Amino acid sequence: MQVEAKSPNGKSGLKPATLSLLIQCAVLMVLLASLYLVQVVSNRYLGFYFRIPLFVFVLLQSVLTLALASVLRMPAWWRWIHFFFPLAILIMFYLSIPSEFYLAGFLVTLSLYWSTYRTQVPFYPSTLVVRQAVAELLPQGKPIRMIDIGSGLGDMSMYLAKLRPESMIEGIELAPLPWLISVVRAKLKHSRAVFTRGDYHALNFADYDVVFAYLSPAAMPALWRKAKAEMRKNTLLMSYEFEIVGSAPTDVIQLQGTKNKLFLWKMT
Ligand SMILES: C[S@@+](CC[C@H](N)C(=O)[O-])C[C@H]1O[C@@H](n2cnc3c(N)ncnc32)[C@H](O)[C@@H]1O
Repeated sequence: MQVEAKSPNGKSGLKPATLSLLIQCAVLMVLLASLYLVQVVSNRYLGFYFRIPLFVFVLLQSVLTLALASVLRMPAWWRWIHFFFPLAILIMFYLSIPSEFYLAGFLVTLSLYWSTYRTQVPFYPSTLVVRQAVAELLPQGKPIRMIDIGSGLGDMSMYLAKLRPESMIEGIELAPLPWLISVVRAKLKHSRAVFTRGDYHALNFADYDVVFAYLSPAAMPALWRKAKAEMRKNTLLMSYEFEIVGSAPTDVIQLQGTKNKLFLWKMT
C-alpha cells in the first residue's frame, strides 16, 4: 500500500517553527512601521504625538499573529501559541525575572528538545498502560530483539527488559538529556536495557524482531518507508497513537483509560 506523500509542513512547505518565527517577525515589522507612520502624520499634521500603551501594542501583535496563522492554516495549537506568546513575553517583562533564569530554562529546553526542530517529534513519555499493552503483544516463547525508537527517559525499554530477561531490549534517543537520564536510570536500576544516543534512521531495522515507535504524525511516512524496506517478514512494527496514512494496520488495540490506540503492522 502507498504512503501519502503529503508534506507534514502544510501549504508553505516550511517547518512550523520557521513559519511561526516569520509570522511573528512580519507582524511586528508591520505594526512598528504603522505606528511610526501614524506618529509622524499625527505629529506633523495634527499637532500631537500619538502613543499607544505597551499592552495594547502587544495585544495587537497577539491578535494579528493569531489571524495570520489561521489564514496560513497552521494547526490550532500553533494559532494559540501565536496568541499567547507576545502576552507571555509582556508578563515576564513585568515580572523582572533575572536573566540567569532564562539562560537555565533555555539550556534545559535545548537539551530536552534538541532535535525537535528537525524531527518534529517532541519528547513526551508514554504511560504504564502503553508499556503493559506492548509487553502483552510481544512474541512469546522465544528470545527477541526489540527497540524503542525515540526512547526518551527509557521507561518502555526498562519495563520490557525486566519482563523479558531472555531478550535483548534496546532504546535509541536523539536528544542528549533524555538519553543521559535513561543511561543513568538503567545503571541505578540494574536494568539490562541498552540505550544508544543517535538517530534511528541510521539503524538497520532488519536486526530487530519488534520496532516500537511513539513519535508524531510528521515522522510516520518516513518511518513506514524504512520499515517496509528493511524489516523482515513476520516481524512487528508498533506505533502508539500515530497511524500511517494509507497503510492499514494489521491490528489496532484500544488502550484502557485513554482514547489513544496502539497500531500494529505485521510485516509481509
Ligand atoms: C514522544 S517521545 C517517546 C518517548 C518514549 N518512547 C516513551 O514511550 O516514553 C519521542 C522521542 O523520540 C525522540 N526522537 C525523535 N526523532 C528521533 C530520531 N530520529 N532518532 C532517535 N530519537 C528520536 C525524541 O527526542 C523524543 O524523546
